[in-house]
Amino acid sequence: MKKLIVFDAYGTLFDVYSIARQAEQVFPSHGVALANLWRDKQIEYTRLISLSDPSNPLGSAHFEPFWDLTQKALAYSCARMKLTLTAQAREQLMTAYDHLSPFEENEEVLKTLKALGRQTAILSNANANMLKRVIEHAELTPYFDQVISIESVRQFKTHPRSYGLVHERFSVQPEDILFVSSNAWDALGATWFGWDTFWLNRQGLPAETLGPQPAYTGASLKNLLHCID
Ligand code: LAC
Repeated sequence: MKKLIVFDAYGTLFDVYSIARQAEQVFPSHGVALANLWRDKQIEYTRLISLSDPSNPLGSAHFEPFWDLTQKALAYSCARMKLTLTAQAREQLMTAYDHLSPFEENEEVLKTLKALGRQTAILSNANANMLKRVIEHAELTPYFDQVISIESVRQFKTHPRSYGLVHERFSVQPEDILFVSSNAWDALGATWFGWDTFWLNRQGLPAETLGPQPAYTGASLKNLLHCID
């Protein structure tokens, strides 16, 4: 039985591509392209930081908080797309990151998990303050036993030390955990780490062609309720 359900944050619980709507207001006809490039660059920076100093016991020497990486990724993406990022536009888009729309089924699924007596956590690349703001804005705070930021180990997912944080915070066996992510790379990283994973494939994307398939896949968070026994 899965005693602990661990969720990724961005894309999984919070609609990171809802940013495209704000981006479209600021840069008409470029919103979707900017949101996609921004997200890719943000994740690329996390990988660059962790891969370039993977074995340091203090975490990567190149570590920067996810908020800062998000801001730097935005500046890069605008420069690459030849869009002028004013201070006001930057403020508007970064604020949008604190106000991401939660997916509509989140609350019902989280309520059900709690009613079934399961423990719940978030494990995210985001720094703790950033996470707190987006979770509070979505009014999801009461549904999580713990919100875990990788910033204490200064290594981003998919570095094993980031996933390992869950075992430092909860006394559960790997087989007791179901990890839930809409990011296929995150589901694969967690599978390689040794957990069963639920890949939330909201966009009907093809499965990764690398590595083992996730234990479970579904198009809605609701589907994970069938995967926890
Ligand atoms: C996170 C990103 C990877 O929340 O979605 O960790």
